[in-house]
Order: sequence, then C-alpha cells, then structure tokens
Amino acid sequence: MDDWIDYYDSTHTIYVSKLHRDVHFRVIANDILAYVPSPDAVVLDYSCGEALFAAQVAAACQKLILAEPAPGVRGRLNARFGPNPKIAVRSLDELQQLPDRSVDLAVMISVAQYMTPAELDAAFALMRRVLKPGGRLVLGDILRPEVGAATDVMALLRLAAKNGFLTDALWGLARTALSDYWQLRKNIGLQRYAEADMLAKLKAAGFEASRAKTNIGYNPARMTFVATARA
Ligand SMILES: C[S@@+](CC[C@H](N)C(=O)[O-])C[C@H]1O[C@@H](n2cnc3c(N)ncnc32)[C@H](O)[C@@H]1O
Repeated sequence: MDDWIDYYDSTHTIYVSKLHRDVHFRVIANDILAYVPSPDAVVLDYSCGEALFAAQVAAACQKLILAEPAPGVRGRLNARFGPNPKIAVRSLDELQQLPDRSVDLAVMISVAQYMTPAELDAAFALMRRVLKPGGRLVLGDILRPEVGAATDVMALLRLAAKNGFLTDALWGLARTALSDYWQLRKNIGLQRYAEADMLAKLKAAGFEASRAKTNIGYNPARMTFVATARA
C-alpha cells in the first residue's frame, strides 16, 4: 500500500461496522446540507468517500458533483448513484473539465490531512477557479498540530456510545491498530495545520476565510473553515 488513496480504496476498518458507516455519512450529509445556499445551487464534494447519504444532499440542490480519487470507491458511487440525474460522479482529474465559475458550494471534509501541502494548494486553486464569485468552500475536519491520535479515539468512542456500537468500535480500533493504517500514519503521516496557517493558506489561494464555530462531523477537536471566493 503506497498512499492514503490506496488505503481508502482497500477494505479498511476505519468504519468499524455498517452502523458506524451509516451514522458517519448521515452526520456528514446533514452538516453539508446546512451549507447548501439554495435549491438551485451546484455543489461539489471533493474526495467524498462512500457518501452514502448523497441523495439527501442532491435533493436539496440542483446538482451534486461527487469527486473521488479512489477508483474502487468511485465504482461503488457510480453503482449507487448512477440512476440519480442530480448526481455526477467524477475523478479528481475530470474536475479540470469543470467550467470556471460554475459551482456555488465546494466541500472538502476530512481530506486535507491526507494531501501534501502542494496537493492541497492545487485543490484550492481548482476550487477557486470553479467557484462562482461569492461561492463558498467549506473545509472540514482539519487536524491541529497539538491534537494527537488519542483525541480521535475518544471522539469515535463517544459517537459509538451515543449510537449503540461501542463494542464494535473497540474491536474496530484493535483491528485498525494492527492494520496498514498505523504503518501509513507513521510513514506518510497526516498533515496538520494551525488555525492561522490554514487561514493564511486560504487567503493566498484567493479566499476570504474564517473558522466556523463547530467542526463538520463528530470530532470537535478538529476545525472547519468557511472560505468565500473573492470576486
Ligand atoms: C476520511 S475519507 C473522507 C471522505 C468524506 N469526505 C467524508 O467526510 O466522509 C478521506 C478521503 O480522501 C481521499 N484522499 C486520500 N488521499 C488523497 C489525496 N492525496 N488527494 C485527494 N484525496 C485523497 C480518499 O480517497 C478518501 O475519499
């Protein structure tokens, strides 16, 4: 396994059970819905993963573009959402073909930590280009330098306790501990950003940005930024 895209394309144990996967993607879809500006909005979900509840997001906008680099995940997205006329599944390369100023809302949740800073800059440039003036980029689940893996474990256990999958979560954590995950986390690592550094990076990419009060998803130790494309 070479990188995080391979990891997410594999049969990994990040979601400890079907219930966890469902709870996770329902929470993410609900949080995205809160940012959809209007029923005619075009929404781009950059590295969307399995996006199990994308149909709910699509129902609240005109068009939802699900972009995902992992080919196996993309195959499942195509199978799941192919019949939905409001959803388009794309590779990240295919996003180059999107017209300038054609998107109202771009979301990128729990992705920046897996990218090199240069890859993140390239993604920001793409989103800056395709967003309409005044369109928003919501960048969620950014890891801070000072918060370690124990906080991720606690956030998962709290979500599990609340949703009735604590035993599965404990087994899942044990399986993940023995899997490629820690090897990759040790070898490639996860990118972390202080609040001021991410704000500066977004500003340099042509956005006016601020940190949202609450993070998207269920890990309150991580940060969400809302960035508006400058006209
Ligand atoms: C934790 S999942 C997040 C999925 C979804 N956005 C969510 O919030 O549930 C990480 C996603 O990042 C993608 N990814 C991993 N490395 C990447 C990279 N270098 N560039 C772009 N996407 C990447 C994976 O394919 C996967 O879809």
